[in-house]
Amino acid sequence: MLRTILVAIWLMLPAYVTNAFAVLTGGGRPIDLGKNFLDGRRIFGDGKTWKGLIGGIVVGMCTGSAQTVLLPSFGPFPLLVLFCLTFGALFGDLCKSFIKRRLDMERGAKAPIMDQLDFVLGAWLFLILFAHPWFIENFTSYHVIVILVITPLLHRIINIIGHKLGKKDVPW
Ligand code: CTP
Ligand code: MG
Repeated sequence: MLRTILVAIWLMLPAYVTNAFAVLTGGGRPIDLGKNFLDGRRIFGDGKTWKGLIGGIVVGMCTGSAQTVLLPSFGPFPLLVLFCLTFGALFGDLCKSFIKRRLDMERGAKAPIMDQLDFVLGAWLFLILFAHPWFIENFTSYHVIVILVITPLLHRIINIIGHKLGKKDVPW
């Protein structure tokens, strides 16, 4: 049980780090450059910035590379897998913001479940599409369940820290 939890966290760590560092490195020019979608509302909003996207991916990739060096028997994370875990995570996050804006929700408005699992689902989608053998070989259904259960808890803890550091306007 404990081993399953630890392996699950280890496998998703690059995606977690990416998501957390997008918040820590974010700010400045928004990805949608302030532009509106067809419905007259922002495409993604001011909470999705180039600095957050690039900073998150760079730190997430470094984390996965370090994990491969430290414990090559778990994982190991090839470059394509790291791309899926980092870019996929923030792709999921962007999709969530796109959906929230279409639902007329302001930046930072609470969207339970969506806010917490967006990056997990994005990372898994990319892994299934582009690194399918690695996904099947490393993720069992137990790992998937563990991630779905513990991610909202970890997310909450990290966001409270981010809020306290003044990196997030709201603690969710
Ligand atoms: N962030 C960023 N760039 C990204 C992702 C996140 O700069 N690509 C930073 C922003 O400062 C953002 C914060 O991380 O405000 C928290 O991310 P998130 O909760 O996903 O965004 P929200 O501000 O809540 O916006 P939304 O309503 O679109 O979810
Ligand atoms: Mg949010």
